[in-house]
Amino acid sequence: MRITQVKLGRRSYAIAVGNKIIRSLDKKLNRLNLGNSAFIITNPLVRNKCSGELIKVLKKAGLNFKIKVVPDTEKSKSIAVLSSVIRDLARFDLKKRTFIIALGGGVVGDLSGLVASIYKRGIPYIQIPTTLLAQVDSAIGGKTALDLSEGKNLIGAFYQPRLVFSDVALLKSLEARQLRTGLAEVIKYGIIKDKRLFAYLEKNCKDILRSKTEKLAYIVNASSKIKAGIVGCDEREEKGLRTVLNFGHTLGHAIECACGFNKYNHGEAVALGMLIALEISKRMGLIKGSLQRRIEGLIKRTGLPHEIKGIALKNIIKAYHRDKKFIGRKNRLVLIADLGKAKVVENVPFGIIEEAVKSLYSA
Ligand SMILES: NC(=O)c1ccc[n+]([C@@H]2O[C@H](COP(=O)([O-])OP(=O)(O)OC[C@H]3O[C@@H](n4cnc5c(N)ncnc54)[C@H](O)[C@@H]3O)[C@@H](O)[C@H]2O)c1
Ligand SMILES: [Zn+2]
Repeated sequence: MRITQVKLGRRSYAIAVGNKIIRSLDKKLNRLNLGNSAFIITNPLVRNKCSGELIKVLKKAGLNFKIKVVPDTEKSKSIAVLSSVIRDLARFDLKKRTFIIALGGGVVGDLSGLVASIYKRGIPYIQIPTTLLAQVDSAIGGKTALDLSEGKNLIGAFYQPRLVFSDVALLKSLEARQLRTGLAEVIKYGIIKDKRLFAYLEKNCKDILRSKTEKLAYIVNASSKIKAGIVGCDEREEKGLRTVLNFGHTLGHAIECACGFNKYNHGEAVALGMLIALEISKRMGLIKGSLQRRIEGLIKRTGLPHEIKGIALKNIIKAYHRDKKFIGRKNRLVLIADLGKAKVVENVPFGIIEEAVKSLYSA
């Protein structure tokens, strides 16, 4: 088991990564002493695929527990589901000392974190992420969220978990498309912060896509270290250090919005967004075409999209202008100066952005 600390003073916590580590969760829970009862929040699919070992280990630890199942959709990040979860939690919590276990992907993680942050003004929670995206990204950093019809992630708080427990054995049942979505974020970490991780992905891409556990453990651990380091320096995104994590996300988000969160999922849109950011970086004279082709090569080999299909350019541009990162008349983009080296650039000429998006359409 590999451990990384997220260093946040009194709010510090460990990220444990390994294969079949869930069996040893009882020892960690005993040490943390979070309570005598666990309220597990999950969805039907994850309960079927991933809860067996967890239940065994909770019984071994002598803990009371209850499983709350929420629908398997982004709609679970809603006030209606939040209210149902909190009411069930309150009924369960009578005369107990309860902590929450988020067992699932980013949807369950975001919802559970928010429940934990507001129930009785805050109770402890741990994350047991079950998607690659959640293990490398959403479970780390304490961003909790619900969506409104006015926009995604508009309700939320920073509320750190007490433990992130990433068992890569849980990823075995993940669909290939979900694995690739998480992989897009791992590629992002390699590009912005870690050229060794990038080279590892180039070498082991096939094995990773076949869910080879030791390779998954390597990339989850390397990604967790990067995210932990950035969160440790800029917990609340106040110093601009967390900004580099938005690499590929500004245009990626515009693509997600333009296709109505339908044709391309998050990681696929981020892959396209990263390719656009690379094209902009090249046009701004920051990188050479050879690096751009190298990164594009890896994205192609993972099966992530490298061309935009089925969305009109004007709709992406419209969505880009609406994006919340467009501050006043300025724009701010995360670009690349070299492999492993991100650069935040303001006032990128709009003509360059538009040409870069255009370059992802096949002639
Ligand atoms: N808090 C943050 O910092 C942060 C960061 C990035 C994304 N997010 C949020 O995360 C969400 C996306 O997360 P996601 O991609 O994990 O989506 P998700 O939670 O919807 O999971 C994707 C699908 O995989 C299934 N699944 C989960 N674990 C599985 C397993 N082990 N085997 C088989 N199937 C499994 C789920 O049931 C679901 O159908 C979005 O709501 C996004 O806003 C939050
Ligand atoms: Zn992302």
